[in-house]
Amino acid sequence: MALVTERPDDTTTTTSVVHTANPSPQWWRTAVIYQVYPRSFADGDGDGVGDLPGITARLGHLARLGIDALWLSPFYRSPQNDGGYDVADYRDIDPLFGTLADADALLAEAHRRGLRVLVDLVPNHTSSEHPWFVAALAAAPGSAERARYLFREGRGPDGAEPPNNWRSVFGGPGWTRVTEADGRPGQWYLHLFDVTQPDLDWTNPEVAAEFESVLRFWLDRGVDGFRVDVAHGLVKAEGLPDWHGTSVLLHSPLEGEVSVAGVDEPTTETAPERVQAGNHHGPMWDQEGVHEVYRAWHRVLAEYDGDRALVAEAWVEPMPRLARYLRADEMHQAFNFAFLTAAWSAPALREVITDALSAMDAVGAPTTWVLSNHDVVRHTSRLGLPQGEGMPGGIGAADPQPDEELGLRRARAAALLMLSLPGSAYVYQGEELGLPEHTTLDDAERQDPVWLRSGHTERGRDGCRVPLPWSSTQPALGFSPTGASWLSQPESFAGYALDNQQGVPGSTFETYRAALRLRREFALGSGSLAWVDGLPVGTAQTLAFVNREVLVLTNTGTTALPLPADLDVLVTSQQLPLAEDGAWLVPPDTTVWARIG
Ligand code: NOJ
Repeated sequence: MALVTERPDDTTTTTSVVHTANPSPQWWRTAVIYQVYPRSFADGDGDGVGDLPGITARLGHLARLGIDALWLSPFYRSPQNDGGYDVADYRDIDPLFGTLADADALLAEAHRRGLRVLVDLVPNHTSSEHPWFVAALAAAPGSAERARYLFREGRGPDGAEPPNNWRSVFGGPGWTRVTEADGRPGQWYLHLFDVTQPDLDWTNPEVAAEFESVLRFWLDRGVDGFRVDVAHGLVKAEGLPDWHGTSVLLHSPLEGEVSVAGVDEPTTETAPERVQAGNHHGPMWDQEGVHEVYRAWHRVLAEYDGDRALVAEAWVEPMPRLARYLRADEMHQAFNFAFLTAAWSAPALREVITDALSAMDAVGAPTTWVLSNHDVVRHTSRLGLPQGEGMPGGIGAADPQPDEELGLRRARAAALLMLSLPGSAYVYQGEELGLPEHTTLDDAERQDPVWLRSGHTERGRDGCRVPLPWSSTQPALGFSPTGASWLSQPESFAGYALDNQQGVPGSTFETYRAALRLRREFALGSGSLAWVDGLPVGTAQTLAFVNREVLVLTNTGTTALPLPADLDVLVTSQQLPLAEDGAWLVPPDTTVWARIG
């Protein structure tokens, strides 16, 4: 729909409505959800690894910030080969992070403060230390124990070749051969990720029943929902056919290519060349059968009170395909990775925002917005790199370094853009401080399996998982009472520490706080979106839209633009200079929220 209005100065302004306000009161439709990566948030016991009591003690920070809910990355019992995404017991807390009593205390305190809590569920694979997999290794081929996983005979005369050509997302082969009880090389098992993360067989009803029981375990304890890991990967195509594509975890050498998705490649054995994104339908991703799983889970959640929610981590394109996970009887929302991977350019962002809103509106689901998480280079650093070259897969000391100042300026502008959009937004711990990636971490400290399995060609994700700086003067910057820290913090983190920002007008922390307060005050999360074209500020490098009574302008270009007169400026991502005629200027890489009359 396009509305044309005449402005008093005769400029013709066109307004295109792409999303209308949603009056539904379900909390998750509009929530700002803060991701806590437990091992790096706050360390209560001083061992250098963050834990649940550490989180509980810092909930005041989150309440002050003004978020609605938190999502906790996995805290389950685990050998920690993939930061806890390798679960050995879905019903217990890893001693590294605390106890079930600590989890109960965290939930109670969060709820007392009015914060909801989502926990991470990892259903695609277990840890190889899960009792099921231990039993599967001890049992014979063809046994019920093996049938919970994807064990297959190898190819070739003596079964020495893997059952198919699938690769692990972390690098290396996707299959590992086991030694049978008689000491001979035997069957192979599939692991789309690390060798210690065997994939479950979701066609086995026992697997489905177990996960419904795990859901109930946590719902009974009071969690408000689940973030579902690799939600597009549970079901594999029948027969596990060969596939001449690659799945990449976190980088996209080509613009638009996404992580944990398949990219079809030509079948040339010698020099496989990546092709443009758009076809992510390898036989291990986005199979029709996954939808039945989420319909069943939807029914489980619906038995509970309080609008419990399921959030899909699904690297699925294009957007209408992702929206299928959010049909009325399936999950409730999905991460919008197209927004996260978009280049810093007004036309690219406008397209992604429009596409996402229209695809999600079509199924009645809220759109989500996310800029950073524990799997990608923090957006402060990403946006300080040359744009249009795709997502970096980690950054090391020998790599080209981001422009930290430019990156922070853009990151703050991107955050204000994100927080002004209708729908639900995700904030990754530390982004409220403007934290950059640790881009010079000593390779010897790296723990991400990506670093190992890629044969040290991908730096991986440790750089975005560095413990948070709370205090510029305390040991480990206040992360741990003993000064221990499982990854070392870069020197620059002291400057970003919370104590340097709290109460400081214009700091990144206070800017996030102001934006979150205004977002609530103007009900932007449940608002509408109409693009505005033809404002005096309009250039191809400006995003301009109205949500409720708020005009949002983001300048991604290289020149400062005048702000229309008579606007009541609410919050800006950096201070606005004044032009000679007294008008406010919107500098490059800046977002402004202004109230319209
Ligand atoms: C996605 C998670 O976010 C990531 O951290 C993990 O390595 C993979 N899934 C495998 O569980």
